[in-house]
Amino acid sequence: MTVGQAVGEAERRLAAAAVPSPRVDAELLVGKALDSSRTALYTNSARELSAAESAVLDRLVARRAAREPLAYILGEWGFRRLTLKVDRRVLVPRPETEVVVERCLELLRGLEQPAVLDVGTGSGAIALAIADEHPGARVTAIDVAADALEVARENARVSGIDVDFAEHDVRDGLEGAYDLVVSNPPYVTAEEIETLEPEVRDWEPRIATVGEEHTAAIAAAATAVLVHGGHLVLEVADGRAGEVSNVLARLGYEDIRTGEDLTGRERVLEGRWSSRR
Ligand SMILES: C[S@@+](CC[C@H](N)C(=O)[O-])C[C@H]1O[C@@H](n2cnc3c(N)ncnc32)[C@H](O)[C@@H]1O
Repeated sequence: MTVGQAVGEAERRLAAAAVPSPRVDAELLVGKALDSSRTALYTNSARELSAAESAVLDRLVARRAAREPLAYILGEWGFRRLTLKVDRRVLVPRPETEVVVERCLELLRGLEQPAVLDVGTGSGAIALAIADEHPGARVTAIDVAADALEVARENARVSGIDVDFAEHDVRDGLEGAYDLVVSNPPYVTAEEIETLEPEVRDWEPRIATVGEEHTAAIAAAATAVLVHGGHLVLEVADGRAGEVSNVLARLGYEDIRTGEDLTGRERVLEGRWSSRR
């Protein structure tokens, strides 16, 4: 089988498994099997695969056809300027979370050495991206899942970015003083998760996806650690920005604002904490 035929055959198998973007995924999987870039596949489309390469590709395509997230199969995923290691221990970082980071960086602009706390860091995506793009920031990141923290620490080591990671359950409260608290908490309900695509429902850690009380718990806990004028930035579920705004207002946050993701949905919520209230 040639490289071109391998891409076509992988695409056919992935389409039959109802994978949403079978062509792109096929190209990336053939690229991984051959240790080759997507563009190089086209310049080498007539080359024959060895038996060993075909066997590797067959296993990769079978995994994707079982709807394992592409990011887990590739073992890495792009997030802002970083390439993060990801596997079943962590949520795959999403494009809407890149917008959360963008808003944090805007709020931190002008602060030379802001103290930042990322609650539920998972792969370390938010914490590492903020530390990467605001070099003065002193970033702490917590997660209740020890295995997720292993991934986050590995990502910090590989990228050479300094973040202070700690295992902690936000429901036990927070300590310290921060200019900004940010979180992409678990916010899918137990009923909703069963209706989501298999990649999320069957593969991503439930501790990272399912949670109904986390958003309010983080907003409440953050009031104890935000400095005067500090900000809370939350990623919220599609359709829940209004409800969470009310939670923030009840807790006493001011200047509550929603921001949109790249598809125009209200997915970012922020509030400013005033300790002089
Ligand atoms: C939606 S994931 C976000 C991961 C990463 N921040 C991102 O945006 O890609 C939520 C994270 O919160 C963590 N988490 C769940 N419950 C928690 C709790 N009670 N305290 C601290 N972290 C928690 C999960 O382990 C998971 O890593």
